[in-house]
Amino acid sequence: VYLPALPRLDAVDRLVTSARAALFFAVLLLAVSRGHAADPRQPELAAPYVATPQSVMHAMLRLADVGPSDFVVDLGSGDGRLVITAVAQYGARGGFGVDIDPKLVQLANDNARKAGVADRVQFHERDLFATDVGDASVVMVYLLPTAMSRLEKKLVAELAPGTRVVTEDYPFRSWQPVRTLEVDTLDKLEISGQTLTQLYLYVVPAR
Ligand SMILES: C[S@@+](CC[C@H](N)C(=O)[O-])C[C@H]1O[C@@H](n2cnc3c(N)ncnc32)[C@H](O)[C@@H]1O
Repeated sequence: VYLPALPRLDAVDRLVTSARAALFFAVLLLAVSRGHAADPRQPELAAPYVATPQSVMHAMLRLADVGPSDFVVDLGSGDGRLVITAVAQYGARGGFGVDIDPKLVQLANDNARKAGVADRVQFHERDLFATDVGDASVVMVYLLPTAMSRLEKKLVAELAPGTRVVTEDYPFRSWQPVRTLEVDTLDKLEISGQTLTQLYLYVVPAR
């Protein structure tokens, strides 16, 4: 994967950005735990909406080596960019995304129409933890660490051997990635307080 090298931050900058990232993460965790409804029937808020920057999105699609035989699923799909781009630019045969925010689901379906891929890409208002992922050959995940353990168990149990999973920023706890990739881009600074994005590629092993 070719990614243009960006200037590295010096040690002090790194310390400051790490502290900002830690603060950002603490605020997110607080928001998520406060948002956790007393009602256990409510879906778990696995992450607030933050769009993956374009450069990171392309790195994820290339890391998964998305091509014509793939059916791509994004769990927590936001504006739909990952699945739409997989089909429109990387030639994937189809895909879907799910999100608990109905406005984002509508936006994603509008974006799929605008990109001319609505016949192959659909977005649904659905809890990602209650979503059947069995048809996926590639799964994209950009969620908080609090959701990763539960999701890891679900994916290992449901996905066919050989399915690739790419996670952004946070790894699964027990599953070993087959590849990791660091993307250094200023696009991420506003989102996470640091320029580095860590990507993890997993492949479901044979049973
Ligand atoms: C960090 S955003 C990622 C958006 C998109 N995948 C991207 O990379 O641009 C996470 C998304 O997950 C959605 N989400 C959070 N909890 C969810 C759940 N239990 N089921 C479905 N979607 C969920 C949020 O509404 C949000 O749009």
